[in-house]
Amino acid sequence: MSTLVIGALGGTGRLVVDALAATGASVIAGVHHPRQANAPAKRGVERRFLDLTGESAEMEKAFSGVDTVVNTAAARDTSQAARVDRDGAVAAMSIAQRVGVTRWIQISMAGVDRPEVLPGFLLAAAEAKRAADARLADTTMAWTVIRPPWLTDAPAGGRIVINDVGGGSLSRADLADTVVASLGESATINRTFEVASGPLPIRVALARLT
Ligand SMILES: NC(=O)c1ccc[n+]([C@@H]2O[C@H](COP(=O)([O-])OP(=O)(O)OC[C@H]3O[C@@H](n4cnc5c(N)ncnc54)[C@H](OP(=O)(O)O)[C@@H]3O)[C@@H](O)[C@H]2O)c1
Repeated sequence: MSTLVIGALGGTGRLVVDALAATGASVIAGVHHPRQANAPAKRGVERRFLDLTGESAEMEKAFSGVDTVVNTAAARDTSQAARVDRDGAVAAMSIAQRVGVTRWIQISMAGVDRPEVLPGFLLAAAEAKRAADARLADTTMAWTVIRPPWLTDAPAGGRIVINDVGGGSLSRADLADTVVASLGESATINRTFEVASGPLPIRVALARLT
């Protein structure tokens, strides 16, 4: 069985693919444009077309033989957040559950439950993420919702803080490592948490989730 990464050519998505592949896991890169899906596989990573706003039958095909999904996708334009981050993600969850996916890690956004702390330009995306997170918790899949703050392209620091509502930032590299570590940590199952750069080694911080 395999792990499929949605949004696999995005900033975080490509790092999740690399980090998973480095563990020896079977990884499938879910890509958003058909021409990207036709590009040759790199380092043995299969590519499959997966557009969250696409046809159900195409999504069903993408999930074939997949047991775990990591959704790192986001609409480029926040005016599309309801269509992609909410409706697209929710449709994909339903299809995934129906075809036998048992584990789903969702990248959400810090502050979606505290919209008063968010700048106005993030509100549509935050509302879309919050609705998708809620739907995920209603599925029968084992789920994890990870809510990072502002993402950077800094190198991995390997240390995080969980559920510290002070804001901050997180590198995409540390977010990718948090995703991979979450897959091996049962304390993350059926949990939602915010994560930022902080003092604790990633695995230690995740193991302390209650
Ligand atoms: N950036 C931040 O500061 C920040 C803060 C908090 C949370 N987040 C969340 O963290 C995650 C990763 O963020 P990021 O900035 O690393 O991502 P990113 O670079 O923006 O990548 C997002 C990926 O999603 C793909 N995508 C867009 N529409 C899609 C669709 N309909 N179907 C499938 N894939 C689609 C994009 O493809 P195209 O490029 O082809 O459109 C892109 O590859 C996202 O969920 C984001 O909302 C980001």
